[in-house]
Amino acid sequence: MSGACGSQLAKDVNELKAMVKAQNKRIDKLIKHINEGCEAKEEVQLESTMTGLNPYIECLNPDILYHLNLSTDTTDFPKVFGDVRFVCLGGTPSRMHKFANFIMKEIGLKMNSSVQLKDLAEDAHRYALYKVGPVLCASHGIGGPSISIVLHELIKLVHHAKCQNPIFIRMGTCGGIGVEPGTVVITSEALDGQLRPVYEVVVQTTPELRPTKLDADLAKDLKSLSDPCCDGFDVIIGKTLCANDFYEGQSRLDGAFCDYTSAKKMEFLSRISHAGVVNMEMESSAFAAITSQAGIKAAVICVAIINRLEGDQISAPEERLTEWNSRPQILVGRYMRKVLYSEDCTDEDTCDCAGGDQTQPTE
Ligand code: URA
Repeated sequence: MSGACGSQLAKDVNELKAMVKAQNKRIDKLIKHINEGCEAKEEVQLESTMTGLNPYIECLNPDILYHLNLSTDTTDFPKVFGDVRFVCLGGTPSRMHKFANFIMKEIGLKMNSSVQLKDLAEDAHRYALYKVGPVLCASHGIGGPSISIVLHELIKLVHHAKCQNPIFIRMGTCGGIGVEPGTVVITSEALDGQLRPVYEVVVQTTPELRPTKLDADLAKDLKSLSDPCCDGFDVIIGKTLCANDFYEGQSRLDGAFCDYTSAKKMEFLSRISHAGVVNMEMESSAFAAITSQAGIKAAVICVAIINRLEGDQISAPEERLTEWNSRPQILVGRYMRKVLYSEDCTDEDTCDCAGGDQTQPTE
């Protein structure tokens, strides 16, 4: 075993110890609570931590989250979703199903092996929604309009549930700009097709430009949890160009239409690279603008599945794409463990809850 991976093992052992300690503390707390019975302190009434929301929401009785097939008159939001700490989004229902099962193991939860995770939004036939303890996992489809709809409804969900400062993370795939395929890219700034750090929403025929702010500390925290030696992949932070289209919007030569030359394409890619852009995808601007409007701490973490300086077509084999797809999920899993287990550590504990692990999401 190499020295680097030996130290990884030591980190894993420390992390396991921290998990066990945290679970024991929870059990102690529960026993105390049971012993104190009804004399336990009165529960504090929590308020929603979302900011700047639509004032008409309070008049909606019930509020129907149509695309998630949820309604405030049939679901007790605080009871069902009140413990949500993380909302993770990814493009497809199957990727989020896989992530939900992966994260269950990562945060130490278990389910009877005869039971399947339930897609809470299944009957709406639009998006998938899974709840795994404090983690909500939702699919968002492709592009700004699709992610915008599910974000409106997820933000109302955490608002009605009175979740306390939930963190939103989008995990996805992207085209790298001068970046080797398989590299994980965390977005520092989401730019639109005109390289503006804004998301344009046309309201009653008037375009409004909403700032696309992401949380810089969260981006750094996610990057700090990578271990290039043992993980076998690099993680970088850089600017993301968010396009409204996969083909012409990303200057590809392989769409149904193309009015520019190959030379013009390369000139464009080189220009955006000089402007600090390291990847292109299609949801970061809407995601960053909508989450920041609600005062939500958020990050975008994607894996590059192609280096656009070398081509346009995604030709990597399925198994490789599957393994690459798991990379952002691995870092997000580590981040959640760090948050969930380090807050159970007290001063007298010497716990290293941040460590990594080699577990990968499975099919
Ligand atoms: N997603 C995109 O939007 N572009 C790519 O090149 C790859 C994934």
